[in-house]
Amino acid sequence: MNQRVIPLADERQLRQIPSVPTHPVQPTGRLADTRQRLLKDLRISVTDRCNFRCVYCMPKEVFDKEHAFLPRKSLLSFEEITRLARLFAAHGVTKIRLTGGEPLLRRGIEDLIAQLVAIPDMEVTLTTNGVLLPKKAVALKAAGLRRITISLDSLDDAVFRAMNDVDVPVADVLHGIAAAEDAGLGPLKINMVVKRGLNDHEILPMARHFRDSGHILRFIEFMDVGSSNGWRMDDVVPSAEVIRRIHGETPLEAIDPNYPGEVAERWRYRDGGGEIGVISSVTQAFCATCTRARLSTEGQLYTCLFAQSGHDLRTLLRAGHSDAVLSGVIGQIWSGRGDRYSEIRTAETAALRKIEMSYIGG
Ligand code: GTP
Ligand code: 5AD
Ligand code: SF4
Ligand code: SF4
Repeated sequence: MNQRVIPLADERQLRQIPSVPTHPVQPTGRLADTRQRLLKDLRISVTDRCNFRCVYCMPKEVFDKEHAFLPRKSLLSFEEITRLARLFAAHGVTKIRLTGGEPLLRRGIEDLIAQLVAIPDMEVTLTTNGVLLPKKAVALKAAGLRRITISLDSLDDAVFRAMNDVDVPVADVLHGIAAAEDAGLGPLKINMVVKRGLNDHEILPMARHFRDSGHILRFIEFMDVGSSNGWRMDDVVPSAEVIRRIHGETPLEAIDPNYPGEVAERWRYRDGGGEIGVISSVTQAFCATCTRARLSTEGQLYTCLFAQSGHDLRTLLRAGHSDAVLSGVIGQIWSGRGDRYSEIRTAETAALRKIEMSYIGG
């Protein structure tokens, strides 16, 4: 039996049970943290499992040897997730992103989507590696999903297989993209994590492929999430370099964000070939406008992607507390938030034991 690797010195840290507030914060639709950042987005991880072993996320040496995944009973049920989502909505959340692991591995995910899209004024979206889309895209659309983001790190089959490390051919993801288009889930966002020496030679081929496609390709700087991906600053390709390389071939110009606090910086081809984005968490931190909370598969609430510990909402949920009490707890946690990891990243912080991205949700 594998032992669960929890990237923490002390497992109890992971499961801090929040105290029940004596003076609960009443939901007002606007909840600010200690740095005046409102709570607006909730990223929900629906499974810690994945059918890929991307080298920058779930390296095989760790995830196939030492890591045990969560047992089924630990997972929040769809009803529990939806109840929490409604409480977050009352505090001002207007966007939910379903993540994982690979969210399409969670059985019946379309039923959860149908429950979440029924929350008034809630935008629901999902990030997937795309492989299951030929089977799932139509059901996702029918459940009310409007748009999705698909991860794709290379068009070169050998590079792609080496990066997902389970020998999945790139054609499978391209079929997934086509299925999403056919189901009406486009225009799509395509996420490419760039790691120097591994796939940075694919920046231009990827840009050429998605130009004029109507989809938005976003280049993501390789981050030091979790503790298992062997992150080194030398492996990061700064977004400025990505832009320089593409601009050298096809001129680009910067465009305004779609909304304040958008994670991706937007650029468009001057000749009208569409837009691309860069996500620069390492070289240009965007903590100052970070409005995102994260709910793990087993119901731990994290106020930062790089958190070292979470707040155990599942225990409170299953203890039978009322909506008012749970809502007060959420309010208390967010009002006390001061996270800004990417702004204070150093070689020392990068070496800290942090929660894995497949657990906390990208
Ligand atoms: P939309 O604008 O709604 O499409 O969402 P988004 O830009 O947040 O896109 P997405 O959720 O696909 O995020 C893209 C990537 O940005 C993630 O996979 C992460 O790698 C990174 N990212 C997103 N949110 C954060 C964050 O809060 N902190 C850091 N450091 N990185 C983030
Ligand atoms: N650095 C940057 N992005 C990452 N992702 C996963 N691990 C990392 C990392 N170390 C991104 C994937 C995917 C999303 C789920 O998270 O590309 O788009
Ligand atoms: Fe799976 Fe996405 Fe992580 Fe790759 S990046 S291992 S597809 S969760
Ligand atoms: Fe938000 Fe933490 Fe990412 Fe900064 S590092 S943007 S606080 S999730």
